[in-house]
Amino acid sequence: MKTIKTIDSMRQTKKGFHESNKSIGFVPTMGSLHEGHLSLIRRAREENEIVIVSIFVNPLQFNQSHDLEQYPRNFKRDEQLLMNEDVDYVFYPTKEEMYPNSLSVDLNLSKRKDVLCGATRPGHFEGVLTVLTKLFNIIAPNRVYFGLKDAQQVAVVDGLIKDLNFDIELIPVPTVRESDGLAMSSRNVNLLKEEKEESHYLYQALLKGKGVVEEGDWSREQVISTVQSELEHHLSGEVDYVDCLTYPELSSEISKIHDIIIAVAINYKQARLIDNIILKPS
Ligand code: PAJ
Repeated sequence: MKTIKTIDSMRQTKKGFHESNKSIGFVPTMGSLHEGHLSLIRRAREENEIVIVSIFVNPLQFNQSHDLEQYPRNFKRDEQLLMNEDVDYVFYPTKEEMYPNSLSVDLNLSKRKDVLCGATRPGHFEGVLTVLTKLFNIIAPNRVYFGLKDAQQVAVVDGLIKDLNFDIELIPVPTVRESDGLAMSSRNVNLLKEEKEESHYLYQALLKGKGVVEEGDWSREQVISTVQSELEHHLSGEVDYVDCLTYPELSSEISKIHDIIIAVAINYKQARLIDNIILKPS
């Protein structure tokens, strides 16, 4: 595996693969890798001749400076994990390499943004879209892999790729969980012991919401209040949101023909956890 730190060198490398018609699978990450990231990388390895992973903690998508500072970083460990997965290249640019000047172009979202994390983290998805647009232009992959744990991110990237005509196939990958159901996340290391112990109730609460839908004859409000009361009963963290929307449109006008997402976010002292379930309505 080769580590590439400059945009020029990444561009030169990908050019060679385009000329020889080799397919490139790309997995963007912010590092501190776990089994969730590795599931995306394994899928990319199966489906492409060349696998490129990026590790870049993107300052633009953090709305609180302490969250950016606290974000776990461990490049040496990540590099070893990527080598074990037979990754070809890791793109690991500095902040100065990616953002040498203040930006003169702003990407704005017009849809899928006023709900869930978009509502409580203003500017977050614009930051995600900006860095992804840059990475897509630098690497020009054939396929990109994203985890459904961040389902709203998948929905906005789907819009980005279609609206701006990127010639890239978006592959959504299911959420990888700990054995107790907690969705794997780089932020889980920032949970206090008691928070970690109770955190499996996030997924349990989503399953209760799913139960309401599966019983039939349900309303959006019923699903939300069931999940909300489960969370409030079992968790010491502050509930940031609970919602039930269509997916991937993220509309509150539920209809039986669209998939639905039940999504939650919890704020703990030093970590923010999100999780969701996507299902067919009955
Ligand atoms: P990061 O949080 O590092 O996640 C990188 C990718 O791993 C995302 O597509 C995310 O959905 C996926 N992922 C994380 N936990 C997962 C889990 N438990 N199961 C399956 N997939 C999981 O998401 C970002 O970075 C950034 O916003 C990024 C896209 C890199 C842009 O900066």
